[in-house]
Amino acid sequence: MSDFTSGFWPIYISVITLVSIIGTWVFLKSQTTKKFAPGEKAELMEHTWDGDLRDLNNPLPRWWLGLFYGTMIFALGYLALWPGLGNFAGLLGWTSRGEYQAEVKAAEAKFQPMYAKYMQEDIATVAADPNARAIGKHLFLTYCSQCHGSDAQGAKGFPNLTDNDWLYGGDPETIKATITNGRTAMMPAWGDTLGAEKVRQVANYVLSLSGRKHDAALAAAGKTVFAENCAACHMPDGTGMKAMGAPNLTDKVWLYGGSEATIIETISKGRNGVMPAMTQTLGTTSNKEAKLHLLAAYVYGLSQQK
Ligand code: HEC
Ligand code: HEC
Repeated sequence: MSDFTSGFWPIYISVITLVSIIGTWVFLKSQTTKKFAPGEKAELMEHTWDGDLRDLNNPLPRWWLGLFYGTMIFALGYLALWPGLGNFAGLLGWTSRGEYQAEVKAAEAKFQPMYAKYMQEDIATVAADPNARAIGKHLFLTYCSQCHGSDAQGAKGFPNLTDNDWLYGGDPETIKATITNGRTAMMPAWGDTLGAEKVRQVANYVLSLSGRKHDAALAAAGKTVFAENCAACHMPDGTGMKAMGAPNLTDKVWLYGGSEATIIETISKGRNGVMPAMTQTLGTTSNKEAKLHLLAAYVYGLSQQK
């Protein structure tokens, strides 16, 4: 046990514990050694109360003494077998960590065959299995819901995983790669490079791509700005590039928002959405590969429902 800050406290605690147990024993013994000779009566103590209430010095009942010694023997036995006396680990070598690890091992052994079965199936097949989806949902609620929401519909900056619109791609293998290795989006900040006026122009052009209300003159000017600066990632027609995670700007799905103000903010300041690599988050947890497989299947299944 490394919970103690100095070598003094374990000894201090052990001494107090042992001295109180042994002290109690000695005290009890010293008070109960008197035996009656045949015929001898209990001695009458000096005081008498309330006229006739007498105080006799009878030996303590045996059953009561036995119980008392029993508790002390129990305490000593317990302290010998389990941790309790300062740094002494106990003869059984029990630790709460060891108990936890044994439980994890047992659970692993129990679930291993089931996980192994799913590992052999491809993601689409696993996604169609209701039991696998139930496990996947549990995993999702544990590891993903804080960002993507418990219904997986996301929030501003956190993509909706239930629609059929994908930043990186919605085929099983791409989903699995996204979850396993994570993604970091690189949308550069254009505010300084372009200046406010050009940012407004290109923002209006972006609005026009999805048929939103826009200023036609600004959008016309923005078309060239877009072709020069944005097409490399968002493609000349604005439909995006999955390899980069550059969103399609021609549809009605917005990761950060489709108002003019938000689009201007996105373009000026840039955006760097980060999807953490789950292979790290899951770390050394048991059945990590199978969990990634089941998560991928769950996410894939979400978008296949409609
Ligand atoms: C810390 C927040 C966070 C957590 C936790 C998280 N994600 Fe993400 N995830 C994101 C962000 C942000 C993105 C978008 C990245 C970007 O902007 O390019 C993303 C993107 C994705 C994508 C890509 C969507 C697309 O359109 O291509 C998938 C799939 C995904 N996450 C699944 C998961 C799963 C499954 C989990 C749990 C195992 C998870 N995420 C946990 C933040 C998170
Ligand atoms: C280097 C590649 C790259 C270039 C160049 C680039 N973008 Fe992006 N853009 C991205 C990526 C990647 C994202 C997604 C950011 C994220 O997920 O956090 C993005 C996101 C956006 C969004 C947010 C869309 C939404 O759904 O909320 C808009 C709007 C946008 N870009 C417009 C532009 C404009 C306009 C330009 C040119 C001035 C531009 N981008 C240039 C890569 C690029």
